[in-house]
Amino acid sequence: MIPRRTKIVATLGPASSSPEVLEKMIVAGLDVARLNFSHGSPDEHRARAELVREIAARHGRFVALLGDLQGPKIRIAKFTDKRIELKEGDQFRFSVTHPRDAGNQEVVGIDYPDLVKDCGIGDELLLDDGRVVMRVDNATADELHCTVLIGGQLSDNKGINRRGGGLTAPALTNKDKADIKLAADLELDYLAVSFPRDAADMDLARRLRDEAGSDAWLIAKIERAEAVADDEALDGLIRASDGVMVARGDLGVEVGDAELVGIQKKIILHARRHNKVVITATQMMESMIHSPMPTRAEVSDVANAVLDYTDAVMLSAESAAGEYPIEAIKAMARVCCGAEKHPTSTKSGHRLGQQFERCDESAALAAMYTANHFPGVKAIIALTESGYTPLIMSRIRSSVPIFAFSPHRETQARVALFRGVQTIPFDPAALPAEKVSQMAVEELLKRNIVQPGDWVILTKGDSYHDSTGGTNTMKILRVGDQ
Ligand code: G6P
Ligand code: MG
Repeated sequence: MIPRRTKIVATLGPASSSPEVLEKMIVAGLDVARLNFSHGSPDEHRARAELVREIAARHGRFVALLGDLQGPKIRIAKFTDKRIELKEGDQFRFSVTHPRDAGNQEVVGIDYPDLVKDCGIGDELLLDDGRVVMRVDNATADELHCTVLIGGQLSDNKGINRRGGGLTAPALTNKDKADIKLAADLELDYLAVSFPRDAADMDLARRLRDEAGSDAWLIAKIERAEAVADDEALDGLIRASDGVMVARGDLGVEVGDAELVGIQKKIILHARRHNKVVITATQMMESMIHSPMPTRAEVSDVANAVLDYTDAVMLSAESAAGEYPIEAIKAMARVCCGAEKHPTSTKSGHRLGQQFERCDESAALAAMYTANHFPGVKAIIALTESGYTPLIMSRIRSSVPIFAFSPHRETQARVALFRGVQTIPFDPAALPAEKVSQMAVEELLKRNIVQPGDWVILTKGDSYHDSTGGTNTMKILRVGDQ
């Protein structure tokens, strides 16, 4: 069997918290478990995190844990009767002073004091991911007066966006700050930051992460119109992050669905050029919330993201609250493998004509160039401290598997998100220096990944002790010749 290269992130929730279901999800191919801090208690997240690690260890699998901060999603308050029904042409008001639990047919409270300041006459407001649309006609000091353009049901605490973006809520709330501490406590491998506007928001998240004592890699969720307004804004956010997520739910609301597919391709391309990891998310298998089979359109959407060369595709409600979490992972795995057979998944023009900035980057990319052009090469071994060397390698399209050899638990889990990378626990510092290459190749032989006569590429640095960034050597080895 050819192992799948594209990774699967699945959100855990009530549908996927029992040991039985979780075990089947891990066996079916779950690579990264997402804990969504918008729902559930710290104790529930802790229980899920422990369960994932325990089951993965039992099966010899390496599953990373990603915490997803709620962020400043702006929401309306509550209605006296839970929900109202709005018709096109209705007049409706948002008020920062109206009682928070007493919305009615004319007005609802909102917990975001700057709403009036941030909105101008003529702006369009999108509620509940765009299901209800209103136009701002007028504003007083504490209220927006609107006309309903697209009617529908509006219920308690639904989200609110502005078409074109620009609502200026700061990216990290007090709840997010508490959840960053929880992430540190649970030793999560990744932390996703919701609604960052720019690099400064990511810098703040990084500072809070450091203060909390976490070494989780930071994922910027790209979901505001201003984050994709131009290349400078997008690249600034990418550079300030360890990876990004194409967060298509809110992004689609802000930029409009027609722009989304082009923006997805651009985000993935830019992330890879900056040596960053990228997840494609939201509604990928949406119909599988209630159906054991994806639609053809969903199959095409997952396959398209694979062809765009995303690192991972993600399940949200499908695995958190759906009826078929295990089938959803199996369907994703199957579709990824199919799409990876397409020739564009293995041919690379990555960064041709561009300069590299670092020695380890140059060695890692040279290894990939060799692997893609020398037909006997069956595997690449990257000795790595932090996962950085295999990360650079996996930015390039290839069909040759990359093996991250590392003694560290954090690194073994982290690389579960990188496309085409698998991990093998290995501690070169514990071996005689002259035996390291040979022992590394033997690990692959033992697992039947290579046979005598195959070629293997190995990268390393001069020192085997805590030398992240030290990769400066690439060896081409023939299995059996050592
Ligand atoms: C291992 C190797 C070193 C190498 C390092 C690279 O520790 O033994 O020789 O320098 O990995 O680590 P990095 O985090 O940069 O991938
Ligand atoms: Mg979102």
